[in-house]
Amino acid sequence: MMGQIGSWLRGWWRGGDPVIEPAIPRDATHLAQLHGASFHRGWGEAEFETMLAERNTLVHRLRQGRKIIGFAVSRLAADEAEILSIAVAADQRGRGLSRDLLMTHLGHLAGRGVRTIFLEVEENNQPARRLYERAGFAVVGRRERYYREANGEQLNALLMRRDLS
Ligand SMILES: CC(C)(COP(=O)(O)OP(=O)(O)OC[C@H]1O[C@@H](n2cnc3c(N)ncnc32)[C@H](O)[C@@H]1OP(=O)(O)O)[C@@H](O)C(=O)NCCC(=O)NCCS
Repeated sequence: MMGQIGSWLRGWWRGGDPVIEPAIPRDATHLAQLHGASFHRGWGEAEFETMLAERNTLVHRLRQGRKIIGFAVSRLAADEAEILSIAVAADQRGRGLSRDLLMTHLGHLAGRGVRTIFLEVEENNQPARRLYERAGFAVVGRRERYYREANGEQLNALLMRRDLS
């Protein structure tokens, strides 16, 4: 009983269980912060504002209480989509949250009539590769020296694909 109350209290203190919902225009600042903390080449607030306003871009946020702790962004074109970015805040990683975020995002893409999804992932990004493989994506191509790191190092990208039926 105490255990249950304890876990409820901890949940309440953190703002309850994380929820996945469509991002709104006001999220641009927080999304840009989170993106900048997760990627070497961060997207600015203005880029998020544009994406949140575009009809061919789908953005979901992962929210815990008042905090945005993750997001997923895709661009749609006819019955195809590309996942442009997905991230979970560094202090929330390793809890399986990205899986829920991605599956919900894919469900919405399917609802918008998307049948094929592509994405690019850095070859050594094991958490991301694992996430996509578990979600049914397969490697369909490789792009040599596709990413350039801050230190000048060039890294390969894998192109992954999943068909929705
Ligand atoms: C990729 C990312 C979204 C995953 O989020 P997460 O919520 O921590 O993911 P999960 O907890 O669901 O873990 C995903 C998988 O990676 C595995 N994993 C985590 N850290 C790992 C590591 N260092 N090495 C190998 N595998 C790892 C987990 O075990 C899990 O696999 P499993 O389902 O078989 O157990 C998160 O790491 C992130 O935001 N990274 C920075 C941004 C980024 O690289 N995004 C992807 C760009 S394409």
